[in-house]
Amino acid sequence: MLLSSFIDEATRALLGLYPREEARSIVLWLTQDLLGTGRHTHITEPEYRIPPTLEEPLQQALSRLAKGEPIQYVLGYAEFCGLRFAVRPGVLIPRPETEDIVRRAVTLKPARVLDLCTGSGCIAWSIALLAGCRDVVGVDISPVALSVASSQATSLGDAIPKDFAPPVFIQADVLGAPPAGLGNFGLIVSNPPYILESEKPLMRPNVLEHEPALALFVPSDDPLLFYRAIARWSRLLLADSGHGITEINENFGREVAAVFAAEGFINVGTEEDFFGKKRFITYQKRPSTAL
Ligand SMILES: C[S@@+](CC[C@H](N)C(=O)[O-])C[C@H]1O[C@@H](n2cnc3c(N)ncnc32)[C@H](O)[C@@H]1O
Repeated sequence: MLLSSFIDEATRALLGLYPREEARSIVLWLTQDLLGTGRHTHITEPEYRIPPTLEEPLQQALSRLAKGEPIQYVLGYAEFCGLRFAVRPGVLIPRPETEDIVRRAVTLKPARVLDLCTGSGCIAWSIALLAGCRDVVGVDISPVALSVASSQATSLGDAIPKDFAPPVFIQADVLGAPPAGLGNFGLIVSNPPYILESEKPLMRPNVLEHEPALALFVPSDDPLLFYRAIARWSRLLLADSGHGITEINENFGREVAAVFAAEGFINVGTEEDFFGKKRFITYQKRPSTAL
């Protein structure tokens, strides 16, 4: 089969799920990944034929995509902060806006970092690699997430330097008390579940039907559930003058900021993502001399 014919047919097959440009980008990502072709091979080499042994794997991948499965699950990885992270069903696919947490962490250069609701471990590993932080702890309740997060070294491959200290991942319920013996941290980051159950009708089926509900939703009548918990963990575990950064539902910036202010944090601020949406709350532990 000609590569150009496959690209056209596959794009058509995805049109009920995605706008045309997005459908085409997904198909191009698939062909580039499975065939090792370039983004423009079908144009620069119009006679390029798909090797017969690869037709079946391509068709299988396409049928998963046509059922709405995200391309990242089909290929088994997602890009985050320029790094390649393994993902699979049961683990949230990292979102580009979350990269801002890492960028902010890099400027703070913390010695110890705690990542609550770590999921694939994308934030924890990126901070360890890009901020050169040798003591990062990731926490999640999901055994699938913890298994993926702990195994990211395989996917990250050459991005990991020789003397690298990988993050440590532990299972805990962030809504409960922190396990004993964690020590203090200079930075606590989190991207917790924050979509209201009532927002489900606004979501695309490929997210709703394939990504884990545990990673996405909070009860509609308690949108601040995780923020109260993160504020509690931060009060107990942040070092003096330590910083916190947490991702938020854009509709609750003021309310989440109030949770951290009520817990006694200073410099509580709301930050926007690159779409101009209120996306992060930053806060700092009061130095003990100022108490
Ligand atoms: C929005 S995802 C974030 C994943 C990852 N940090 C990222 O940014 O891609 C939220 C994560 O919180 C975890 N989670 C949900 N409830 C939790 C709880 N009670 N305690 C700890 N982790 C929880 C989920 O398993 C999921 O991995």
